[in-house]
Amino acid sequence: MTTVLAVANQKGGVAKTTTVASLAAALHELDQRVLVVDLDPQGCLTFSLGQNPDKLEKSVHDVLTGDIGVADVLVETEEGIVLLPATIDLAGAEALLLMRPGREYALKRALASVTGDFDVVIIDCPPSLGVLTLNGLTAAQSVLVPLQCETLAHRGVGQLLRTVSEVQQITNPDLALLGALPTLFDARTTHSRDVLADVSDRYQLPVLDPPIPRTVRFAEATASGATVLSGRKSKGAKAYRDLAVNLLAHWNDGSAVKTYSPAEGVGA
Ligand SMILES: Nc1ncnc2c1ncn2[C@@H]1O[C@H](COP(=O)(O)OP(=O)(O)O)[C@@H](O)[C@H]1O
Ligand SMILES: [Mg+2]
Repeated sequence: MTTVLAVANQKGGVAKTTTVASLAAALHELDQRVLVVDLDPQGCLTFSLGQNPDKLEKSVHDVLTGDIGVADVLVETEEGIVLLPATIDLAGAEALLLMRPGREYALKRALASVTGDFDVVIIDCPPSLGVLTLNGLTAAQSVLVPLQCETLAHRGVGQLLRTVSEVQQITNPDLALLGALPTLFDARTTHSRDVLADVSDRYQLPVLDPPIPRTVRFAEATASGATVLSGRKSKGAKAYRDLAVNLLAHWNDGSAVKTYSPAEGVGA
């Protein structure tokens, strides 16, 4: 059985792309066959996995709008993750898709032919709630929401959760809200924890364990075209490895996903 996970938040800079790349690398280390899908026209995931979006001839855009099969577009990264890449062409896909019936299902339909080759598929959504994100949420079984733990982090969460609930009602009744993943987390102050406690209370949102600490290693990794897991030892890499173990246990034996209690500052 393949698990398809969408990583979404219409806010930019909350570590969606970093989470997709790092979690994919961590799952790959656990012998999972992992496909990542770049649904952002900026192509940041594509770039951060060592591919130059400007030099790719085919991309997810051709898959969503044309007749090209996914298998013809996939590239394998040096770390062994398989990528469905994005280029700036994808910026035009939104307008093309809007004219089509069943536009929210384009990605789901396209992925159907390759899903069986993978254990986990992770979709990196763009920073908007437009038709590309709706495609990501429609193709997924569950959605993870990275949340940067700073003041006003909650702004927009309500809107995102409304979108998730609309997708559940209209295009994907099986979509499960996995929870919020605290990112850029500063364990040294109580501020991050206070923000998290506020957001999870306000929206009854489970908080996934462990929070991902803020560390400079992520910027270094992006520049090198490999994930933080292939670089020097870091607490950020460890956090994503622990998250991968938690999620895999949840997916494999159906146990409740491990959550973090911001009030106590510990995993539960
Ligand atoms: N845990 C972290 N610590 C420090 N910097 C991070 C961390 N996670 C992500 N970043 C940095 O934050 C920026 C935005 O991250 P990104 O994953 O591109 O966000 P998004 O996809 O939500 O726009 C990037 O420069 C990335 O390297
Ligand atoms: Mg991104």
